[in-house]
Amino acid sequence: MWSIIVHGGAKTIEPSEREANSAGCLAAIEAGARILRGGGSSIDAVEAAVKVLEDDPTFNAGHGSALNAEGEIEMCASVMEGAKLNVGAVTVLRGVRNPVSVARTMLFDEPILLAGSGARQYAADKGLELCSPQDLKSPEQKRSSPSRDTVGCVALDEKGNLAVAVSTGGLDGAAPGRVGDSPQPGCGYYADNAIGAVCFSGDGEQIARAMLAARVMHGFDAVDPGRTIEAALNALARVGGEAGAIALAPDGTAGWAHNSSHFAVAMASSILPNPKVFLSKEEEEELAHA
Ligand code: GLY
Repeated sequence: MWSIIVHGGAKTIEPSEREANSAGCLAAIEAGARILRGGGSSIDAVEAAVKVLEDDPTFNAGHGSALNAEGEIEMCASVMEGAKLNVGAVTVLRGVRNPVSVARTMLFDEPILLAGSGARQYAADKGLELCSPQDLKSPEQKRSSPSRDTVGCVALDEKGNLAVAVSTGGLDGAAPGRVGDSPQPGCGYYADNAIGAVCFSGDGEQIARAMLAARVMHGFDAVDPGRTIEAALNALARVGGEAGAIALAPDGTAGWAHNSSHFAVAMASSILPNPKVFLSKEEEEELAHA
């Protein structure tokens, strides 16, 4: 059994953006599923899927990341694997083409989180692709700063290993140096082969205050992971904010939920070879009742 689920952010998707969000999530799921289908690892699959989303300016990660209050791009990314609980994460990262690959390269190193110039230097030392911070701005972004959010992926490989990857440009107009939930294990993400894996998107300060990923892990319902996410989102009501999350149980059962108006999600597995994509939970429910 292999299984994979990706998301393109908890946000509002305008009618004119629907096609780009669906196509981007489908391209990402295909990149990850290709690896899993060939017997590859969940770590490689989540990195490949998130790289596709980082390279697509439709999403707030990598190319097309949100601009901070100084009009600059500072990115965060994380990768975690569920066998030995290794984590690699970067934050306040400037001028690197694919932040998720820096996080992936760090995964088995001792540090779990590198910030700012140290993270960029690590990427340079490892031969990862650097770029000018200007190159990460999309043509659309140079005109305005649209509302978009974090991307992520959770995968289970044939060996029973879970992995999660997250990548974000943070929030539009954020203070320089601001860090949200996405590079913090237990806040924006977590993976443990014995329990499950989860990946959040949304208002980072609120997700971190409510430790949403930790809540999901502590109450993980392997039969219905979506219900566990709903319970965590109910806890978010105490601090406010919008969020969405995807999760996989150790047997590959997928679940997702959101309190934002939309949440683009695509999924595939060894028993669902043709990927499915939805732009909201409502859409999935409508289809199920059609
Ligand atoms: N969820 C991404 C952030 O708040 O930075």
